[in-house]
Amino acid sequence: MKIVVIGSRGTLGMALADFWNDPRVEARIAANLGRDPVVSNDEIFPLNLPDFDVCSRMLAIDAITELEPDVVVNASGINLVDWLEPRGNTAMNVHVHAVANLKTAVERAGALLVQFGCGEVFYRESLSDVPPDFPGFSESDEPNPASVYAKTKLESERVAREASDHLVLRLSSLFGETSEYSSGNLVASLINSLSRTTKISVLSDRVMEPLWSIDVLCALKTLLARGVRGLCHLSGGSRATPKEVAERFFWETGHRKREVVGISSKDYGEVAPRSAFTVLRSETLGSTEGVYRIPDWRTALRDYLDWRQGGSIF
Ligand SMILES: NC(=O)c1ccc[n+]([C@@H]2O[C@H](COP(=O)([O-])OP(=O)(O)OC[C@H]3O[C@@H](n4cnc5c(N)ncnc54)[C@H](OP(=O)(O)O)[C@@H]3O)[C@@H](O)[C@H]2O)c1
Repeated sequence: MKIVVIGSRGTLGMALADFWNDPRVEARIAANLGRDPVVSNDEIFPLNLPDFDVCSRMLAIDAITELEPDVVVNASGINLVDWLEPRGNTAMNVHVHAVANLKTAVERAGALLVQFGCGEVFYRESLSDVPPDFPGFSESDEPNPASVYAKTKLESERVAREASDHLVLRLSSLFGETSEYSSGNLVASLINSLSRTTKISVLSDRVMEPLWSIDVLCALKTLLARGVRGLCHLSGGSRATPKEVAERFFWETGHRKREVVGISSKDYGEVAPRSAFTVLRSETLGSTEGVYRIPDWRTALRDYLDWRQGGSIF
């Protein structure tokens, strides 16, 4: 297959573009599904700013259709939620108009459009708004986005779902390797903090599901192989506060004396409203055979740190 990856220098895009055919990814999928690894030999076309701007309508459409792709995966976007809040036009452009361009391109190419959505489309002001035994939001739950980021991400899903062949995958919170170009992620910040400080303040009043970008790749590959389409929540059901992730990270990396101080979103001084709870669950994938099961975040974090240490790739 020919696969175009847009936003190929971001956390998710890098995992998709750089590791799509990596035998270790196939080995991870095989171990997860209890089967033998397969050889992956897809053609990957990574596209990113500054050479490729998904918002430049005609240039983007022409560039993509010329490649004659089978699949266009859109991992581009802007995750700087506070920065976007007063910049509604930029958010519309980079999230919604961009996907409208991709929709035209995939229709012309006869390709599948894969779009990523976020758990932020379900806004809960505080954890007291979520019952303790709540299993997470499913595909049939009604979104109620609050920030400009979340509203435009939801609108981008709507546009993607107008494409005749589409897969929209909602995620809670990503971690994984980043480039200097990415907006970063919690675990990347924790890695950076190791050389800078012995005490760190991390949010303790938000619950999410941390997902390793490589696990999103593993899941996507099996979803494509099974021909899954429509809206799907990508989740293994595990959950954590950012503070719990930080504590686990320092424990796993042998920095057990690091002090992790829990702070509230209010004290953090955030501008845009953030959902206190973004854990998802999937009604669609629960019964689908042969689809990669997202591991518990603690396992994924350990595997990521091992992989990072041992490989020449990261
Ligand atoms: N991060 C999370 O926790 C999370 C959670 C749920 C859903 N998602 C969704 O998952 C997707 C990927 O997120 P991520 O964390 O990997 O994002 P990221 O690290 O910020 O990467 C986004 C990438 O998109 C590129 N990009 C931005 N505008 C572009 C344009 N006009 N044309 C081409 N490329 C452009 C960026 O390039 P430059 O850096 O050069 O600008 C960057 O490489 C996004 O749709 C995001 O909303 C993320």
